[in-house]
Amino acid sequence: MTAKIISGTAVRDQILQELKAETERLKAKYGRAPGLVTILVGENPASVSYVTSKIRTAQSLGFREVQCNLPADVSQEALLAKIAEFNADPGTDGILVQLPLPKQIDEKAVLNAIDPDKDVDGFHPVNVGRLMIGGDQVLFPPCTPAGIQELLVRSGCELSGAEVVVVGRSNIVGKPIAVMLMQKGRAANATVTVVHTGSRDIAEHCRRADVLIVAAGVPGLVKPEWIKPGATVIDVGVNRVGEKISEKTGKKIAILKGDVDFEEASKIAGAITPVPGGVGPMTITMLMRNTVRGMKRRVGEPLS
Ligand code: GUN
Repeated sequence: MTAKIISGTAVRDQILQELKAETERLKAKYGRAPGLVTILVGENPASVSYVTSKIRTAQSLGFREVQCNLPADVSQEALLAKIAEFNADPGTDGILVQLPLPKQIDEKAVLNAIDPDKDVDGFHPVNVGRLMIGGDQVLFPPCTPAGIQELLVRSGCELSGAEVVVVGRSNIVGKPIAVMLMQKGRAANATVTVVHTGSRDIAEHCRRADVLIVAAGVPGLVKPEWIKPGATVIDVGVNRVGEKISEKTGKKIAILKGDVDFEEASKIAGAITPVPGGVGPMTITMLMRNTVRGMKRRVGEPLS
């Protein structure tokens, strides 16, 4: 069998087109575009690259976009004061503080200081609670899990009643995607198992999976023999395993490898996401969708 490739870039393009139309409609009706603030502390190269992509995407959609770049030695007090300023700003619908933060800053205190109704990352405890309750309580589904769910739905994967196995229990991916897919309702209703470093036999669980979601951060962790023939495999791993010169730009770029051995897995799986070009492009797309949701909520429109 040769697996169908689930292309995150194709699904991203489709959703961005929908969001652009929605942005234009909102602008025409309310006289302003959705507003997104990115807060970047320091110059960590990976963070700079992520934030740059987020800014470019926001600009391409016509959002009101504000960049707040702070020095690596900024005090926690000054960072919290900035967040308070954007919390109070009526033109700001979404606030994103890029992680990780420098050592002198208490990450938890910062995430908790963002107004939950502007927390487009969905990391505030209020939004984690809303996600756990599910249904119309959910305001900002966290971006990477929301992207995974959208890829599954738009590639025609049947989730209701499916055996889903999630490898990894992070707060950003493993835990929230497990909660989202076990909820009653559309694009969910699955039987979900979460395996992690404390699990006795990870391979045995994976072999039962109709849908295998791997977010462990270990390159090539999942072996082809762990995959049930015909399964849908979502590889969330983005592991930098070296560098190469880009043929397009002549610049040095990272060589990325997923948590799944793609070549071998695609001979067994029914559908699989590549790395890069799978889950990665979806995360930023869902951030944009959350910003639109934030504005709709603030102007009193129903959320779909
Ligand atoms: N750093 C790595 N991933 C993320 C993310 O999804 N959101 C934020 N704010 N920082 C990150």
